[in-house]
Amino acid sequence: MSESLDRATHHSLVRRVFDHLDAGTTDRAAGVMRNPVGIYTDPGRFETEMARILRRKTLLACLSGRLPRPGSYLAEDLAGVPVLLMRGEDGVARAFLNSCRHRGTRLLDGAGAVRRAFACPYHGWTYGVDGRLTGIPDPDSFDGADLADCTLAALPCTEAGGLIWIRLSGAAPADPAESLDGLAAEFAGYGLAGYHYYDSHRMTPAINWKMALDTFMEPYHFAVLHKQTVAPIFFSNLCLYDEFGASFREYLPRRSIEDMRGRPEAEWDAVWHSAIVYYLPPNAVFVMQQDHAEVWRIFPRDGRVDRTEVHLDLYIPEPAETEKARRHWDANLALAVRTVETEDFAAAESAYAGFASGLADEVVYGRNEPALQGLHRRMAALMTED
Ligand code: FES
Ligand SMILES: [Fe+2]
Repeated sequence: MSESLDRATHHSLVRRVFDHLDAGTTDRAAGVMRNPVGIYTDPGRFETEMARILRRKTLLACLSGRLPRPGSYLAEDLAGVPVLLMRGEDGVARAFLNSCRHRGTRLLDGAGAVRRAFACPYHGWTYGVDGRLTGIPDPDSFDGADLADCTLAALPCTEAGGLIWIRLSGAAPADPAESLDGLAAEFAGYGLAGYHYYDSHRMTPAINWKMALDTFMEPYHFAVLHKQTVAPIFFSNLCLYDEFGASFREYLPRRSIEDMRGRPEAEWDAVWHSAIVYYLPPNAVFVMQQDHAEVWRIFPRDGRVDRTEVHLDLYIPEPAETEKARRHWDANLALAVRTVETEDFAAAESAYAGFASGLADEVVYGRNEPALQGLHRRMAALMTED
């Protein structure tokens, strides 16, 4: 039994699924919702999204386990911003612009760990893991420069409850509540601070970034698009939808949930028999998959309305120390990639071609796609709020 959700939540989620299965129904929105195709294709709207949402809002960067020890770092370009996340000797996770204070060169690539300090690959200026400049070759040639001013440019970064959050601009702190909102208590139950990073996969579909989010927002397509991949595991067109302020939960039951019929209700485990999809605005999807977590972070690529990059990071409850464990997690990651990259994103790319023709006018989100509607209501609010 997973202790992550409280007993009442386990019970109500399973009960609602059984009721839907008995009635042949799913959670439904009050009405059908339509969006103009321009929300996916309009360059002007896209510029506004970049400025008002992606460059301004608090974003999920990773779980704490991505930076397991002092000196651990993660370098990623996010929405056109080269970001360097690094854990200091003091244990504090910080975010910097990944750009040398001499003449701008990228300091570190990928992920890994440094010991106390690292050097710029261009002329060898060195920085401590707290971002402070610690040394330069031939300092006499920089006699006018105040090197105390040459600490790496900081980006707002906040670590709380096993999650690390950043902002890509400004001085205001990254505020997890902006994104997690009413889900903080539920997330605390998952004990994410104890999770370990396993592996990542990066995908680059030729679609608008919001279409990558759309992918996760309904199981209406499982029986058709995912006939060979996840349809044998999950019910198609059956989801539970619950709002938590800025975020929401979309509960996707596994077929195995039927095994709990006839079992004492005290044993009902809503986590083990599902994938629980959380939207963490503005651009992340967190999926609790029984005993592990998938973090999907979605960004526009190359500053283009029609290019997206998706970072999938897999986090696991125990370190994978055996070959058997690695095979297990590799298989999990491979199924997620195969389903989303080769099926969902292929379908989305074909849709984008229709949108880009300029001849399509709108898309329609059904009553059986309540999370999709919830996503786009929130996106509309993000476009206008301060
Ligand atoms: S650009 Fe980094 S040392 Fe010159
Ligand atoms: Fe899908």
